[in-house]
Amino acid sequence: MNVMVVFGGVSSEHPISCISAASILRNIDKEKYTIYPVGITRDGAWRLIESEDFDSIEHDTWEQNDKTVPAVLSPDRKTHGLIVMRETGTEIIHVDCVFPVMHGIGGEDGTIQGLLEMAHIPYVGPGVAASACSMDKSLTKVVVEQEGVRQAAFYLARRHAFAKDAEAECAQAEQKLGSYPVFVKPCSEGSSVGVSKATDRASLKAGLAEAFKYDSKVLVEEFIDGHEIEVAVLGNEEPTATFAGEIAPSQEFYTFEAKYVDGTSGLYIPAHISEKAMQTVREDAVRVYRALGCKGLSRVDFFCTYAEDEIVFNEINTIPGFTNISMYPKLQEHMGLAYADLIDKLIGFAME
Ligand code: DAL
Ligand code: MG
Repeated sequence: MNVMVVFGGVSSEHPISCISAASILRNIDKEKYTIYPVGITRDGAWRLIESEDFDSIEHDTWEQNDKTVPAVLSPDRKTHGLIVMRETGTEIIHVDCVFPVMHGIGGEDGTIQGLLEMAHIPYVGPGVAASACSMDKSLTKVVVEQEGVRQAAFYLARRHAFAKDAEAECAQAEQKLGSYPVFVKPCSEGSSVGVSKATDRASLKAGLAEAFKYDSKVLVEEFIDGHEIEVAVLGNEEPTATFAGEIAPSQEFYTFEAKYVDGTSGLYIPAHISEKAMQTVREDAVRVYRALGCKGLSRVDFFCTYAEDEIVFNEINTIPGFTNISMYPKLQEHMGLAYADLIDKLIGFAME
């Protein structure tokens, strides 16, 4: 069976995608699957990598690898093919399944999923609508609200309104949320890119200006004082939830640096929360997953408040970090599902 693993891409999470993909490429069962690693450059060019130099993928130096050839996916429903453009001529490689290991814009937002739907090739993870809705935090809010799962109060700030009158936009957020601190988050970014914590009007204004560099819509959210916990959900019609794991951030919150750069943030599996909260969060994770129409996998992130032991939904990641230190595979491992078997199961769900 031919499996194409696509990574990189135009999103700010490009380097994380490379690390996730390298882990998958190293661990996938190569007797069962013939793998075709395809890297997408930051400019959006596709390259098939014809070597097993997974280190260069992990370190994001794969573009300098001389064993790469330009390739594009054929949108022809009958071809199911990757068109590889060699100097000696064009070859079409039949693709049975795609693992899009790309986080954020262009990978986790329904766009590559749409291309794969057109090409009629099964792929790992949620489909177009579920991906798009899960990537946009303001749309996710609407669905989760409808489902009746508790989430942080928020104000949706818009770039054009902020550009016209920044003070007025800040005042509206203050009025809606009542007090500081608040979190400022671009609606469609991941890995905490552009996220900040604001403690007063000045830091809110600066935080919004920064966040609007990434997106025209920005959430200003109520600060939830609690454990940061995450649940791995797996499956199609009958999804299962793992126990929640907990992030022990080494910085004030789980920033991009704390996640990937300094490597000092710890994980507790299972999370240090009550049995009752654990049961609620596992149920809520499946409710959110179903409400958004997810399939394959997603990591659903919550808080568990220190004061009330209450579960509050934070966000969902349909292509969660898949590095060897990432929460999603670690949570599955804790349930007895080893990394290589997890990849196998995900491909199985894609083919259903
Ligand atoms: N967006 C990153 C990859 C995550 O949530 O794991
Ligand atoms: Mg994310």
